[in-house]
Amino acid sequence: MKYSAFVTRIIPDEGINLLKKNKNIELDLYEHDQVIPRKELLKRVKGKHIILSILTDKIDKEVFDAAGPQLKMIANYAVGFDNIDLVEAKKRGITVTNTPSEMISESVAEHTIALMFALAKRIVETDKFTRAGKYKAWGPQLLLGTDLFKKTIGIIGTGRIGTGVVHRLHDGFGMKVVYNDVKKNPQLEQETGAKFRSLTQLLKESDFVSIHVPLLPSTKHLISTKEFALMKPTAFIINTARGPIIDEKALCKALLKKQIAGAGLDVYECEPLIDCDPNDNLELRKMDNVVLTPHTASATLTTRQEMSKIAAKNILAFVGGKRPPNRIE
Ligand code: DGY
Repeated sequence: MKYSAFVTRIIPDEGINLLKKNKNIELDLYEHDQVIPRKELLKRVKGKHIILSILTDKIDKEVFDAAGPQLKMIANYAVGFDNIDLVEAKKRGITVTNTPSEMISESVAEHTIALMFALAKRIVETDKFTRAGKYKAWGPQLLLGTDLFKKTIGIIGTGRIGTGVVHRLHDGFGMKVVYNDVKKNPQLEQETGAKFRSLTQLLKESDFVSIHVPLLPSTKHLISTKEFALMKPTAFIINTARGPIIDEKALCKALLKKQIAGAGLDVYECEPLIDCDPNDNLELRKMDNVVLTPHTASATLTTRQEMSKIAAKNILAFVGGKRPPNRIE
């Protein structure tokens, strides 16, 4: 059988080249390096068997209907799959895959650490200060930061990325580890002395809190007003998972009230908006104790090439009648 596949955005060539070698796949590539407009997406998926989507494409009932009943697979170019209506996909017998790998986990774990350092050592703020010509003399109290050494890291979610973060911080900086997850992680406990805590207790104890859970109905606004009130005024929060896990309005308020010391964010509640309400005064982007990156935690050449290959291999397995290695149940 011949399969027609639509790729919703330019992705690294590695995976595309693998797909091009397969005679049974007819590829239609969106030609622009930008988020495909909704209207165009709905038009281009018509009659396709496979869609290679990215995380900014909302793949829902409307897309499934626009594609037609022959649609059989969504290969998402991302680890997260909150952009896809899995319930509807299941109902229609559509296979959904994602692109997890060791490499992507390592990239995101590194970026998480980078945000922690940027906050603790005030890297962005002090860079701006120095560039602005404000550095006139060394001073004992000049721009004091925070050490990571022997501090407590609270990890919410101990999958591959959370575990990668824990190892780096425990092994490299002697940090004490507390964690929360849907179930205990005996291996992590054994390797790093990590201690399981309720979310409440974790927030009370941690000097840094880092989020590594998927976005699910149960994790939306997992961290909101009540949770920020539990944190130490010296504590930092880092989110490289998905924006809506933190209630961004509550975060702004907690920062303004100095309930917490700072935040490092790679993802946003109303992405790509940094504040959900652009007219709101509580703008994260004005705060010096906030470090913001544009959802680039996995943005290294190696990782993005690998994601491309993984997405393609999922498609090739499917087309070959095999179970795709990263099928989401
Ligand atoms: C993912 O893969 O889910 C990241 O958020 C982007 O690489």
